[in-house]
This record gives sequence, structure tokens and C-alpha cells, in this order.
Amino acid sequence: MRLQQCYKTDDFRRLAKKRLPAPIFHYIDGGADDEVTLGRNTSAFDDVDLVPNVLAGIDSVDMSVEVLGRKLDMPLFMSPTAMQRLFHHEGETALARTADKLGTMFGVSTLGTRSIEELGAMSAAPKLFQIYVHNDPGLTTSMIERCREAKFDALALTVDTIVAGNRERDYLTGMTTPPKLTPRSLLSFMTHPNWTLNYLAREKFDLPNISASVDAGSKVPVSVMEYLNKELKRTISWDDAANMIAEWGGPFAIKGVMSVDDARRAVDIGASAIMISNHGGRQLDGSRSPIDQLPAIVDAVGGDIEIIVDGGIRRGTHVLKALAMGATACSGGRLYLYALAAAGSQGVRRAMSLLQSEIERGMLLMGCKSIADLRRNMLAVRKK
Ligand SMILES: Cc1cc2nc3c(=O)[nH]c(=O)nc-3n(C[C@H](O)[C@H](O)[C@H](O)COP(=O)(O)O)c2cc1C
Repeated sequence: MRLQQCYKTDDFRRLAKKRLPAPIFHYIDGGADDEVTLGRNTSAFDDVDLVPNVLAGIDSVDMSVEVLGRKLDMPLFMSPTAMQRLFHHEGETALARTADKLGTMFGVSTLGTRSIEELGAMSAAPKLFQIYVHNDPGLTTSMIERCREAKFDALALTVDTIVAGNRERDYLTGMTTPPKLTPRSLLSFMTHPNWTLNYLAREKFDLPNISASVDAGSKVPVSVMEYLNKELKRTISWDDAANMIAEWGGPFAIKGVMSVDDARRAVDIGASAIMISNHGGRQLDGSRSPIDQLPAIVDAVGGDIEIIVDGGIRRGTHVLKALAMGATACSGGRLYLYALAAAGSQGVRRAMSLLQSEIERGMLLMGCKSIADLRRNMLAVRKK
């Protein structure tokens, strides 16, 4: 299978599986425990049907939305994800290039593999930096200052990861960062020599947003679960979030809100957006899917805060369903990560462009000229 034969997320996934050693592929692909939430995040979209209006007399659509202080040309952006240079040597620069081309936003993780400064300098696209609060209190302040200097548009505080989810595939494959040859992983690295030689030949793996303060993860190999459990502050609270909003003073999202009460608290402390998210099914298995939880959150806080649906999106029609329910925009990880692993920036650009055309085609077929035309009465929930 070649890149030009990839049309849907699952096609890119198959290519990624071929290219990557097992520890790396399963780190992207896997979820927590029995992966019930991972599966439900996508299958829940099938419980809602689109009901189009025809003869709308339109020949083009405006897909733009305002998110976190910036206009995006499409209502889907790239969520922050860790360790991208393990998937492809271009890492986050592939997202930056795609965001520049398509006029969308890209997220950068605290555990990103390209620096805040490098990405700030190379891209004028809307940029979101994701914060994991570490035990070292100086680290958050230093990341906030670096984002300000590098002209990032917004911050997202991830709140669903105070302990690591139980990602059993990572135990089985022996996944560590940086990768370590173990009896379990050796065969997989040897049978993917292109990946392995490329990894060894390129610049040394680093986590440049934190490695001045933390050795684990860049200088000392650890599993991602060990890293999260040891280095992240468990006791972060709403007061911490409120203080961070004040310290940053710009657009701010809370990523990982699931309950209606928490959505209200996010409004109360002055957050600009919530990302309804269960971390792509990688944290609390059995957690409800973002799309299932969306209507209750829209009913409670719609209009008071931007609402981003993060997780499970694999098709343009999934985005249309979320927007019709009242979401401001959508975001996703694996929808571009498999493509990054498959073919770097060419892959990410192809995956995001295909989704962009799916959204455009879907809007035309729904009879909607703008995002505001997508309304809840254009959805029907299937009876079980
Ligand atoms: C490989 C991988 C790494 C991730 N790393 C982070 C991270 O560092 N910080 C974070 O807030 N979320 C992280 N996420 C979660 C994503 O931001 C997003 O919530 C999730 O991918 C959405 O689900 P989807 O993959 O079904 O789109 C990661 C997800 C994946 C798949």
C-alpha cells in the first residue's frame, strides 16, 4: 500500500503499522485497559444520523470557525500529542507545515520533540501549546514565558492525566522513550531497519520543552506511564488552573473536561474553551465518549465558552455531527498521527486535506452554506 492509496484514517493506520516497530505503533494505536472507551469514541458517532435539507441553492461553503482567538479555515484542528519524532523524523514540523497550508491550528505537547522556539519561528499558523503540570513548579512558568516569546496563540491545560492510564500494550511491547533495546523490543526494531537506521542517523532524540529540567524521557529511558506517574503533579486543582489563566492572560483551554459541572467551573474561572476529551481512550477506560457527552454540555454552557470535541473523529461527517450538536470545533490525534508515521508532512497534509474535503462535501450535501447553518434539528438519534 502506498500513500496515494490512502483515503481514510484506517488506510493511513495500515501503512503506519507496516513502517513502525511494534512498540511505537502500539503506543499510538493503543488505549487504556480493555480499550472500550477507545472504540466507543468513534462508534458513538454512528448512533446519530444526519438529516440533510436539499435544494438549498448553494455552490460553495464557508467552513471557517473562530477558535481561541484565531480564525480557522476548517473546523477541525490537530490535537497536541507527545513523542512525534519517534513516529517520523520531521515530528511537529510536519503539523506546522500542514497547518500553514490548510489554515488550521496545531497543538504542541509539553512532551513535544521540537522546541517551542523552533515551531514559533517556522509557522504563522494558529498554535496551541499543551501544558502538563510537573512537580517542578518553575517548569510551568518557564513554558508559559517561552510560549509568550514565541507568539503561541493559546494554551491548553490537560487535566485528565494526573496518573497514567493503564496502557497494557506498552507493557507488552516494552515501549520506552527514548526507545531502548530490550529482549521484547529488539526483534521489532531489527525487522524495521528503515525506521531504526533513520532514527539512529538523525539528530539525537530530545524533549526540548522540558529536558533542561527533567532527564527522564530524553536522557534516561522510561515508559511513558512511568514518566507521567513520576513527574506530573497529581494535586492540580481549579485554583491552579485559574492562576495559570491569569499568568498567561490570553486564550486558554481546559483539555479533558467531561462532566457538566466541570464545564460550568471552567466558565466560572474564565477559561476561553473546554476540550471535551478522554485523551483518546488512553486514560480512564469506561469513560463516556466526547460526542455522547456533548449535548448535555452544550445545553449547560453553550454560548458561554467555546466547546471543542476531541477524540474519535475519523471522518468529515463526524465533525458535521458534532458541530450540528453545538460544538464550536473538533480536534483529533490519531487522525493525523498514523499519516505522520506513514509519510511525514506529505502524509499529514494528505490526511487533513481529505478530511477537509469530506467536511466541505458533507456541508454541500447537508444544504449548509456556513457552520452556523448546521443545527441540532438536522440530527436524529437512533433508538436503541
Ligand atoms: C500517541 C498519542 C500521544 C498523545 N499525547 C498527548 C499529550 O502529550 N498531551 C495531551 O494532552 N494529549 C495527548 N494525547 C491525546 C490527544 O491530544 C487527543 O486527546 C486524542 O488523540 C484524541 O483522540 P483521537 O486520537 O481519537 O483523535 C495523545 C494521543 C495519542 C494518540
